[in-house]
Amino acid sequence: MTKPILVAVAWPYANADIHVGNLTGSYLPADIFARYQRLKGNQVLMVSGSDAHGTPITVKSDAEGVSPETVYKRYHAGFLELFQKLGLHYDLFSSTHTQNHFAVSQAMFLALKKNGYLYTESQQQWFSASLGKFLPDRYVEGTCYICGFDGARGDQCDNCGNVLDSTQLINPRAKEDGSTPELRDTTHYFLDLGKLEGPVVQFLEERQGYWRANVVNRSLGWIRSEGLRGRPITRDLDWGIPVPEEGWDSKRLYVWFEAVIGYLSAAIEWAALSGEPGAWHRWWTEAGARAYYFIGKDNIDFHAIMWPAELIGVADEFAHTFEGAEGKPLNLPYDVPANEFLNMEDRKISGSRNWGVWGLDFLTRYDPDPLRYYLTVTMPETSDANWDWDDFVRRNNNELVATWGNLANRVLSFTYRHWEGKVPDPLPSSLRASETSEAIPSDRFLRPQDRQLLAAVEAGFDSVGQHIENVKLRAALGEAMRLCGEVNRYLDEQAPWAQVKTDKDAAGLTIYTALRAIDNLKLLLAPFLPHTSEALHSMLGYHAPLFGEQYTERINDDLGEHEVLRYRAAAIPGHWRPSTLEGGRALREPAPLYKKLEPSIADEERARLGGGAV
Ligand code: MF3
Ligand code: ZN
Repeated sequence: MTKPILVAVAWPYANADIHVGNLTGSYLPADIFARYQRLKGNQVLMVSGSDAHGTPITVKSDAEGVSPETVYKRYHAGFLELFQKLGLHYDLFSSTHTQNHFAVSQAMFLALKKNGYLYTESQQQWFSASLGKFLPDRYVEGTCYICGFDGARGDQCDNCGNVLDSTQLINPRAKEDGSTPELRDTTHYFLDLGKLEGPVVQFLEERQGYWRANVVNRSLGWIRSEGLRGRPITRDLDWGIPVPEEGWDSKRLYVWFEAVIGYLSAAIEWAALSGEPGAWHRWWTEAGARAYYFIGKDNIDFHAIMWPAELIGVADEFAHTFEGAEGKPLNLPYDVPANEFLNMEDRKISGSRNWGVWGLDFLTRYDPDPLRYYLTVTMPETSDANWDWDDFVRRNNNELVATWGNLANRVLSFTYRHWEGKVPDPLPSSLRASETSEAIPSDRFLRPQDRQLLAAVEAGFDSVGQHIENVKLRAALGEAMRLCGEVNRYLDEQAPWAQVKTDKDAAGLTIYTALRAIDNLKLLLAPFLPHTSEALHSMLGYHAPLFGEQYTERINDDLGEHEVLRYRAAAIPGHWRPSTLEGGRALREPAPLYKKLEPSIADEERARLGGGAV
């Protein structure tokens, strides 16, 4: 039975380049998960886009003296390039600055309003007399009233991670000119979270059994200690989505209110682009569908509380308004496997201090799969993790190259040399020419040690698969690598390089078994190491690829021209099953999958950190 699986990936703010912490926090785990589900044959829809609005973008554009649109388009283009190079297979990577997203967000707003979950209220807000404007979110900084950190922003503290009430900031100052602001009244729309507390708590409690403890405990703990109160969902800004109401021209929808709606609007956009406008219902209103949200821990409140509240609040109203369809409620998140943070050489990654490794820069010197490998083995799934360049080199050389790459290369080259580039036939040579050989299953002639090895490796489809389904990707990759070790041990014991001189049939059985094991390992590793698995797949003589293709597309709407990233599925999905590699299959010329790295690069790379800081 194939299942609809929505892979909802955090929308990067289009105001900075993506670094390895962002990658391992949400974008890479999402791709690993999605690739696995596609190999399984499930119906995956992986969506995201650039988070193009709000003060993260306008503060940057003010500082540079360019338009917010210029800022968003520049970083958006970089995201598309990085995702293609790293092979992040989004079905659609769009942006929040599209006519479609505006329409969906406004429809959500109106549905919430109709259902009685919005109210307006006058609120105090910092106002800078010298700048003559209100200072929403990132326009104001000061000391965090929770942890005492001095660089807290109005919306959130980067030190303790808490979402803040900006009016309580200690020593507030305008980000732009350092002036001391004063509190003034301004009217905003509020989402009545208090009214939605009951259903949100129920939603969280139902998920307590299987969600990561930190995610569910943080959310429930917060609600139980503070209770849910109304939150403003509009801002005094001129960049973003207009409030769909007369007289609100000087305000916009709050970036967090609308960015999370992107998961839904991107599904709707994907369906329209695919020529099947109603297809988004498969993921959004069908009861059997599951939605997984891949995010970093600083985004937990918005995905575990705010977004579910919005979805509960629109009830069946949204589907009526927007699609004119059956008016079903929208599916709530099934899981929110938020990751913690990745540090760089024991320090917090920082763009302004140039302390980090940026995806596109990394890929000018190294290949994508070693990055995917290292970011998976160090993935901060349950606690903060650390990128260490020595460790990167070591793991590349000792694990990727020695345990896996050399295994595949050694066996393929040996086959190429001694069996004319064809998979050795496990049938004994005496039977090989006979007419009945077609009907004899080749497994019949395998020895107990061969069967044992294949059984162990084939069990990986369950064990690795289970780990991935539980979003324990480190464990999943560790298990696949353990199986590579088993195959190495088997080869050391059998020593086909000696066998071939004395008993070529025995050597043939060994090599047949090893090739089949490698064919299995190729799949078990494919979600993590897709480029090299695809290359190996081809060396093993297959024609149809494992995965589909990425491409970009230009789209025009009333807001202008947009470039989006899309995915064309492979012709044959559903590869997640043991290999039935047949004797006699022609291989392609093997080439090494990975490169050994010089230990000296660790020092060279460390020397780049902090350089050219602004
Ligand atoms: N732009 C936010 C960040 O980078 C994440 C937004 S996720 C979304 O932290 F769903 F709200 F879009
Ligand atoms: Zn703080």
